[in-house]
Amino acid sequence: MKMKLEIAVLPGDGIGPEITRQSVKVLKAVAERFKHQFYFREAPVGAAGINYDGNPLPEETLELCRNSDAVLFGAIGTPKYDNDPAAKIRPEQGLLRLRKELGLFANIRTVKAYEKLKNLSPLRPEIISGVDMVIYRELTGGIYFGEKYTSEDGNSATDSCTYNVEEIERIAHLAFEAAQKRGKKLTLVDKANVLETSRLWRKTVTALGKEYPEVILDYLFVDNAAMQMIQYPKQFDVILTENMFGDILSDEASVIGGSIGLLPSASIGKSHALFEPIHGSFPQAAGKGIANPIASVLSAAMLLEHFGLYEEAEVVKNAVEVSLHLEVCTQDINHVHNYNTEKVGDFLEEIIIEAENINLNSENLSLGQMTII
Ligand code: IPM
Ligand code: MN
Repeated sequence: MKMKLEIAVLPGDGIGPEITRQSVKVLKAVAERFKHQFYFREAPVGAAGINYDGNPLPEETLELCRNSDAVLFGAIGTPKYDNDPAAKIRPEQGLLRLRKELGLFANIRTVKAYEKLKNLSPLRPEIISGVDMVIYRELTGGIYFGEKYTSEDGNSATDSCTYNVEEIERIAHLAFEAAQKRGKKLTLVDKANVLETSRLWRKTVTALGKEYPEVILDYLFVDNAAMQMIQYPKQFDVILTENMFGDILSDEASVIGGSIGLLPSASIGKSHALFEPIHGSFPQAAGKGIANPIASVLSAAMLLEHFGLYEEAEVVKNAVEVSLHLEVCTQDINHVHNYNTEKVGDFLEEIIIEAENINLNSENLSLGQMTII
């Protein structure tokens, strides 16, 4: 089935624009090969939004996102604001408001250890080999969006954490469904020995678990989960957790595979969806051509999956596997003969368009036998 998609492109700050350019390239290649119609419209967000009209999420940008089928997001943040946490207007507000306005309640982050890259990980190869997990992080509730205030004298401050059953159930359903399709194991991460909200998560998720009898549900306190993530990451299939714990654990999990530059994410709501790499804006690298575009490209693959374009997503993921295998990669992965951001994107584009004409079996997956580079 031919598909027509309107995609809002929000490159943001730092390396955001250069990596997003590669994923747009890849999506255009998919459209060409599979005869879909993908339309792209760009808008500023984050520091780029502040520069544009003083707003980290300009109204026009929000309108564009509301009227699009999906959002392809780059990254936000610049040192100017990172060094001044008291700044009233901050780039992050753009992303947080976008999540809230679009109702993107589930953030899905996959973590995979690529065999080829297992020596890049700070963990021993035998610990990480075979890791394949996905984190379902609640994204529009909890301490991020609770009541906040600082007392008038500036001597005390409050961030409150609130959840209701509905907020927990809607993401838990998605996580159970994912577990059912994957390894049939769901780990709820909470702090139910201390927090009321965590006790509500436990009760709600346990009750819901009855609807998914094939899925084994287990529970970990977040401190223990942080330890197990390093000690024995293979045990995880689907992790379900609240906003703040998910933020922390997903950064921790991202180093397992050796490069944070590889990990994509999807943020899903009832009627909107946004796709972004999990890495940040890496301002020190901006404009140097050293940023790894793979996380953004894999986010584009998640976008395709979201619309049921599984074959197309597979083609993109295969292209990434080929580039890793042949080390057509940026310097974070290939320390010696590396390629720049643009070149990696060009390579992926070419593989996607030409894939039918190239015999990509594992025997000729060696530099010498590939004609494409
Ligand atoms: C993330 C980021 C954001 C978050 C920041 C930029 C507000 O760290 O997407 O994980 O904390 O959610
Ligand atoms: Mn984070």
